[in-house]
Amino acid sequence: MQTLAGLLGYFDNLITKCLLEHMLLEHGSFHLPASFEAGHQCSEIRSIRPVAKSLVAPLPLGTLCDLASWRRHLEKTIMRALCWHGKGDVRIDTVPDPKIQHPRDAIIKITACAICGSDLHLLDGYQPTMESGDILGHENMGEVIELGSEVTNLKIGDRVVVPFTISCGQCWFCEKGLFSCCDRTNPNAELAAKAMGQSPAGLFGFSHMLGGYSGGQAEYLRVPMADVGPIKIPDTVTDEQALFLSDIFPTGYMAAVNAQIEPGDTVAIWGCGPVGQFAIRSALMLGAGRVIAIDEVPERLAMAEAGGAENVDFSKTDVYDELMKRTGKRGPDSCIDAVGCEASGHGAADAVLDKVKAATFLATDRVHVLRQAIMCCRKAGTVSIPGVYVGLGDKIPLGAAMNKGLTIKTGQTHVQAYTKPLLQRIEAGDIDPSFVVTHPASLEDAPAMYKKFRDKEDGVIKVVLRPGS
Ligand SMILES: NC(=O)c1ccc[n+]([C@@H]2O[C@H](COP(=O)([O-])OP(=O)(O)OC[C@H]3O[C@@H](n4cnc5c(N)ncnc54)[C@H](O)[C@@H]3O)[C@@H](O)[C@H]2O)c1
Ligand SMILES: [Zn+2]
Ligand SMILES: [Zn+2]
Repeated sequence: MQTLAGLLGYFDNLITKCLLEHMLLEHGSFHLPASFEAGHQCSEIRSIRPVAKSLVAPLPLGTLCDLASWRRHLEKTIMRALCWHGKGDVRIDTVPDPKIQHPRDAIIKITACAICGSDLHLLDGYQPTMESGDILGHENMGEVIELGSEVTNLKIGDRVVVPFTISCGQCWFCEKGLFSCCDRTNPNAELAAKAMGQSPAGLFGFSHMLGGYSGGQAEYLRVPMADVGPIKIPDTVTDEQALFLSDIFPTGYMAAVNAQIEPGDTVAIWGCGPVGQFAIRSALMLGAGRVIAIDEVPERLAMAEAGGAENVDFSKTDVYDELMKRTGKRGPDSCIDAVGCEASGHGAADAVLDKVKAATFLATDRVHVLRQAIMCCRKAGTVSIPGVYVGLGDKIPLGAAMNKGLTIKTGQTHVQAYTKPLLQRIEAGDIDPSFVVTHPASLEDAPAMYKKFRDKEDGVIKVVLRPGS
């Protein structure tokens, strides 16, 4: 929540200082018109700028508003949040606070949240059905400040991490632990079913096709199904250690589980972003003998090596030739695509074609890495795909996958299935997930951090935002 002084700065473009200073401080009150539309100017306010409806609408219209009630209103009902406004355009806006809408909801005050590689697909305009003003952010933790009447497993003041998948805990899929396939949490299921056959679960801050839920790169977050998702964090575990239970640690771990690793296996992992980093460490935890990590960004390759992987720099080496050389021509037992729909290809013919097709709407996904993983994987091996794909990929070598007898496993992560066992791993000291954090920042820095993360500037690997800092 902001102080009035802070608000004066923030509202420079929304509501002029003239409004607060002249009308409230000088005249003591102003009259709110009985009807108020966004963009209208209130003659009483004598502002040359339009006034944001979201600020004024919750006040009783047609009434006299004094400084005290205005201040109370502002301090109670507005927050700062990172909003999507179009391709390449994310901004910190002032928006209404979230409210309890259902007895299974909770409201949490965000203490830490992170920017994910999946957010970059939104920034870069890959994910359909985004709307201007959508609040982003699906890696969230915070303090419980309000609870719906049916949430009995949490208490006000609890410190919780929130899975990015919103799951009911009761449907056929949730009962099988397939939480990202929950049948009941996407209010726009019909839209998703048109694109995918059936709808997956709703996700925080990830398009209207996947539920239209506001994300948590904000001061506050409404958490639906709060009796199922959030996990309480003990005081002995820091925010930086716990936060990634919301997504990338379970995602890297599930990628390794899906890779069906046998003791001593060789696992190749494309992408040394945060997901790749957790996949490397998880593969080793699950018994891999060797992990070969592929990327081109030196600091990411160095972090992979620190985590126990051998490296391949795809900008300098032919990945297929190198993997065949290192595996006695057999190929890796498992291949993990931790890159997804925005793979770069360093001039490889198929990657150039992908770019052209994506730019001209002939395909949505750039599948260079998936092609390579299928071609490199040993016969009867497994290709695990945690990388996000959004729509249609072109020229995937299905013939190679079929004739070599590959198993392909993929999915949005069933986060709720992994939070508790992985928290135990953290408490036992098997892994300290804070290793991945390179850029702690404030929420106000988020737009600049999105661009830094996208462009891989300044050594950024993982940004953690702290609203209010
Ligand atoms: N399945 C899930 O539930 C889930 C959850 C979180 C993230 N994801 C997805 O996982 C992927 C990785 O996420 P992240 O946060 O690590 O993203 P990131 O963008 O930080 O990392 C991607 C990495 O891939 C590398 N890369 C690009 N082209 C490559 C190529 N041809 N070969 C090898 N490496 C290449 C980039 O240099 C970068 O380091 C994204 O697609 C993200 O959407 C999926
Ligand atoms: Zn994510
Ligand atoms: Zn369910």
